[in-house]
Amino acid sequence: MSLPRDFVFGTSTAAYQIEGAATEDGKGPSIWDTFTAEPGRIVDGSCGAVACDHYHRVTEDVALMKRLGADGYRFSISWPRIQPTGSGAVNAAGLDFYDRLVDELAAQGIAPMATLYHWDLPQALEDEGGWLNRATAERFAEYAAVVADRIGDRVAHWVPVNEPNVVSLLGYGMGMFAPGKALLFDALPTVHHALLGHGLAVQALRAAGATSIGTANNHAPIRPVNDTDADREAAAFFDALWNGLFADPILLGRYPEGFGEAMPGPVVDDLALISAPLDFYGVNYYNPMGVAAAPEGSEVPFEYGELTGYPTTDFGWPVVPEGLTELLLHLRSSYPDMPPVTITESGCSYGTGPDENGVVDDQARIDYLDAHLRAVADAIAQGADVRGYYCWSLMDNFEWAEGYTQRFGLVHVDYTTLKRTPKRSFDWYADLIRSVRAG
Ligand code: GCO
Repeated sequence: MSLPRDFVFGTSTAAYQIEGAATEDGKGPSIWDTFTAEPGRIVDGSCGAVACDHYHRVTEDVALMKRLGADGYRFSISWPRIQPTGSGAVNAAGLDFYDRLVDELAAQGIAPMATLYHWDLPQALEDEGGWLNRATAERFAEYAAVVADRIGDRVAHWVPVNEPNVVSLLGYGMGMFAPGKALLFDALPTVHHALLGHGLAVQALRAAGATSIGTANNHAPIRPVNDTDADREAAAFFDALWNGLFADPILLGRYPEGFGEAMPGPVVDDLALISAPLDFYGVNYYNPMGVAAAPEGSEVPFEYGELTGYPTTDFGWPVVPEGLTELLLHLRSSYPDMPPVTITESGCSYGTGPDENGVVDDQARIDYLDAHLRAVADAIAQGADVRGYYCWSLMDNFEWAEGYTQRFGLVHVDYTTLKRTPKRSFDWYADLIRSVRAG
């Protein structure tokens, strides 16, 4: 595979999905603790109370990363562990946990990439409106400063907000994710506030001396399901909503046409903050999405449709590696001031478990990762500046509304015993990293 020798390889996780210890050592409740307790929200009725118990197994998990040989590890910090009510008093035990984590990573020569918000908003802030409330963005910057002050000397890279589009559209627009609000277009203020949170956090991190700050924006090429004007129009609208609404403000300092008017507050001044230069642009890629014109009487001008003709993962997501090449080249041509890109997430769900010899033979994941890394290499060969790839995920974990039913890990987790078993894909990734290093 023709990737540059200094290409960065990593793995990625998120606090609520792996840590467990949901009520330990002074952690406050988050919107995911609340949401998972509501009947019917999570397919298997589960929650992240224990998850992978990473909170108590940091040493074992960092040892796995060391064995993998990856250069970097992207994790998220649980805001309610640091500030149980989202503002004011700081919980020392919460900071101690991440302090230990970054120390262990440093000891193994693994560069930490810290995400400050991977969806576990302190419930106390949601009670005051959550991301509908501008004050949440201000509280977020204060929290960012607290974290940077304690571990900023050892964190190599920062990501303020993971996938603001998912926060807004799935959390507040459709209600599939916490806090479970289905406000449709009345959720648009959360877009602006999540972006403002990004901008204010960048400012706070810069003030603390951070030199590598980026994003982890979810991007998907949007394709019309049928070759009709109506479907093409619906796809263009959804593309603006899913992709442009979050990339344009950060990279161009403006909203896609028609959206700025819906945003609250001093939008022009805010956009100046939101578009402050970044050191890298993080892209989370899974698959393209199919969109069709809305049926009569729909409240939104589009509907999701299946893209046929592709193999699918166990999640039912189409496997389209060339979509990643297309996306990277599209970003490059659409945003002239694009900083270097890092793939901050890419991976797949396959349920393969241990066989009678304890081997997890997940060839489908190997094929997926191989094809997507080749897609990155293709994009680089065509001029895209892509510097790294963080596989989602280091280990199987709590997959949001899907509970424990979807496994994305390079490492298998037995949720009864919490035993970790590196899969064949883990060894494959380790070999690949070694061979790219060797040139
Ligand atoms: C994401 C999420 C991950 C998911 C992964 C698979 O940022 O979308 O960061 O938490 O687990 O995307 O759905």
